[in-house]
Amino acid sequence: MKHLTIAGNWKSNKTIRETEEWLKAFSQLSFQNSHWATGRSVILFAPFTALMTLRNGIDKLALPIAVGAQNVSAFDDGAYTGEISSNMLKELVAWVLIGHSERRRYMGESDKDLADKVMRAKAAGISVMYCVADAQMQVPPGVDIVAYEPVWAIGTGKSDTPENANAVCMKIKEKTGIAAVIYGGSVTEKNVGSFVGMPGIDGILPGGASLNAGTFFQLILEASD
Ligand code: PGA
Repeated sequence: MKHLTIAGNWKSNKTIRETEEWLKAFSQLSFQNSHWATGRSVILFAPFTALMTLRNGIDKLALPIAVGAQNVSAFDDGAYTGEISSNMLKELVAWVLIGHSERRRYMGESDKDLADKVMRAKAAGISVMYCVADAQMQVPPGVDIVAYEPVWAIGTGKSDTPENANAVCMKIKEKTGIAAVIYGGSVTEKNVGSFVGMPGIDGILPGGASLNAGTFFQLILEASD
């Protein structure tokens, strides 16, 4: 069985109270079936406002989940009102998600911004998961895991085929030399097995299917190749 990375992306969802409820529900399931994390690295990319709650809750409950941020400033500490720097994040997270198509589209993030963000994250010792929509897109140096996420498959209920996702992931590996490439875009507990069963796909990045603790737990259990 290959090692899989299962990364939930909560996007712009969940209050502090909802984060506490999610943790409570997930830890109850974890207690009933303690083998869920074997052979899998689980990461949760949460909004900034939920990070402290998640960090403290995960530590207290001893859950094998790594905490990730969904963004990081392209700048260092300093006079950049409203920005969250990698130096501020490093006490809270092990990972950061950079290059998601929603940030490229709605926040106008450019390849240069994204490369700066990767550089800042790495300088603070934070691992980077970097999203691309196809195998042609640039991947900056320093990225740890690439997530292939075709824009048309995100939140639409129309996932890529496992065969095509596998071919794109293989191409990304060949081009970048990065060993871990995962797939995201309408992954659910029902179709996850068909993706992680592919030899070139090392995990998945579900958005909608990570919001409910029960669904996400089931998805993790179904993720075996
Ligand atoms: P989705 O989102 O699983 O809801 O399609 C995936 C993502 O955007 O990371």
